[in-house]
Amino acid sequence: MTNSPDNPGAGDTPPAASLVIDGKEIKLDVHRPTIGPDVVDVSKLYKETRHFTYDPGFTSTANCSSKITYIDGDKGVLLYRGYPIEQLAESSRFMEVCYLLLNGELPSSDEFADFDNTIRHHTMVHEQMNRFFTGFRRDAHPMAIMCGSVGALSAFYHDSTDITDPKQRVIASHRIISKMPTLAAMAYKYHVGQPFIYPRNDLDYSSNFLRMLFKVPTASYKVNQVLSRAMDRIFILHADHEQNASTSTVRLAGSSGANPFACVAAGIASLWGPSHGGANEAALKMLEEIGTVDRVPEYVARAKDKSDAYRLMGFGHRVYKNYDPRARVMQQTAHEVFDALGVRETPLLKVAMELERIALGDDYFIEKKLYPNIDFYSGITLRAMGIPTSMFTVLFAVARTVGWIAQWKEMMEDPEQKIGRPRQLYIGAPKRDYVPIGERS
Ligand code: SDX
Repeated sequence: MTNSPDNPGAGDTPPAASLVIDGKEIKLDVHRPTIGPDVVDVSKLYKETRHFTYDPGFTSTANCSSKITYIDGDKGVLLYRGYPIEQLAESSRFMEVCYLLLNGELPSSDEFADFDNTIRHHTMVHEQMNRFFTGFRRDAHPMAIMCGSVGALSAFYHDSTDITDPKQRVIASHRIISKMPTLAAMAYKYHVGQPFIYPRNDLDYSSNFLRMLFKVPTASYKVNQVLSRAMDRIFILHADHEQNASTSTVRLAGSSGANPFACVAAGIASLWGPSHGGANEAALKMLEEIGTVDRVPEYVARAKDKSDAYRLMGFGHRVYKNYDPRARVMQQTAHEVFDALGVRETPLLKVAMELERIALGDDYFIEKKLYPNIDFYSGITLRAMGIPTSMFTVLFAVARTVGWIAQWKEMMEDPEQKIGRPRQLYIGAPKRDYVPIGERS
C-alpha cells in the first residue's frame, strides 16, 4: 500500500489491505485522501470477523470523512478548506473565515456583505436570558455560565431546532455564531458585577465583542483597532482544528439528532478541560506560578520527571509533532499587542520565552516532539489585552463555535451519517448469579 501524503492522490484507489484473523484472511478497503495518510476501512470488520478494533483516545482512528480542515502534525501544517492558516491570519478577517469554513469557498464581496450583515443582525439574545443569568453565583466560572446559557438557547429558539429542516439548520448556525460573543461578554459582566452591554450592528464582530466586554455605562468606549485586529486574528487561529476532543463531542452529540444549541453546549463542556481548551488558562497560571526566569529549570525538571504527573501547560499536542503553526502567529501577535500597548517585555513574556528556549533545547522535549502549542502564547497575549484569565477558554469557545457548527453541518449533510456508537474491550466480571445479602461473605 503506497502512501503519498505530500502528493495529492485524490481519485486513485490504493490496493486493499488484508488482515489475517484466526487463519482467515479478509480484505479491507483503503481510502486515499486528497492529502494525508491512507485510511483502512474497518467498518465491516465486526460483521465479518466478530472482532472490534481497539484504539483508546482514537490516536489512529478516523471517525468521519471531512473537507473542512487538514493538519499535518509532522510538518506543522494547518489548512482551512485548503488555505494555510498563516495566509488567513495575515490577510483574512474572522467573518470571512467563518463563511469559508461553513460554505467551503471564500466569499465574493456580495456574498460576504450578505453574510456579515446576517451575523450582525442576530447578535442580541432574548431579553429573558438576562433573568436566566441571575440564577448563577457571581463567582461562577464563566465557562460554567457558558455551558448553561448556550444550552439554554434551545429553550428560546424553537423555530430553529428542527435539525431535519435545512433552512432551520442555517438559521440556528447563524444565531449561535452571532450570539456567542454576546453571551460570553454577559458571562464576564455578570462575573464582575457590571451591567450587560448590548451589541451594536455598526461594529465588526471582534470590535463588538471587545466593546461588550469592556464598556461601562459611565464612560464612552473607543475600540483600539490594534487590539480588535489581534482579537480577530486570535479568533481565526482558534476557529477549527479537525476532529479534536470538543469537535468530536459536538459530532457525537449531533449524531443522535440533538439540536445544535445543545451540541455546542456539549462542545463547550469538553473544551473546558485543561488538556484541551482550558490549557490557555492553565498555561498562564503556570507562567505566573513560575514567576521568574531563574525558576524555569525547576519546572522543566518536574515536567520531565516520570514520577511527577506535572506537565508544562501549552506544550505538546496529540497531532502536532512539530511547531504548532498557530503558535508562531500567536507569538507574533503577542509582540504586536505588547508594542501597541507600550508594554515592554513583561515578566510573564520573559518567563515564557525562557521556558520555550530551554524546552526546545532539551533532549526530553526534542525526543518526545513537544513544542509550544497555541495555548502557550494565547494566554500572555490575552492577559496583555486586559482579558481576565477566567475568560481565556471562553474566548476559545467563541472562536471554535464556527468550527463546531461547520463540522456539525457537514455531518448532518453526510448521507452516510448515523448515530455514533463506539464498542469496547470488556474486561469486567463474567456472567454470575445474584447473591442475597444474607448469603454474602
Ligand atoms: C489544544 O486536539 C486538538 O487539536 C486540540 C487543540 C485544538 O485546537 O482543538 O489544538 C487545542 O487542546 C492544544 C493542547 C493544549 N493542552 C496543553 O497544552 C496541555 C499540556 N499538554 C499535554 O497535556 C499533552 O501534550 C496533550 C494532552 C496536549 C497531548 O497528550 P498526549 O497525546 O498524551 O501526548 P503525547 O502522546 O504526545 O505524549 C508523548 C509523551 C508522553 O510521555 P511518555 O508516556 O511517552 O513517557 O510526552 C509527554 C507524555 O507524558 N508529554 C508531556 C507533555 N505533553 C506530553 N510531558 C511534559 N509536558 C507536557 N506538556
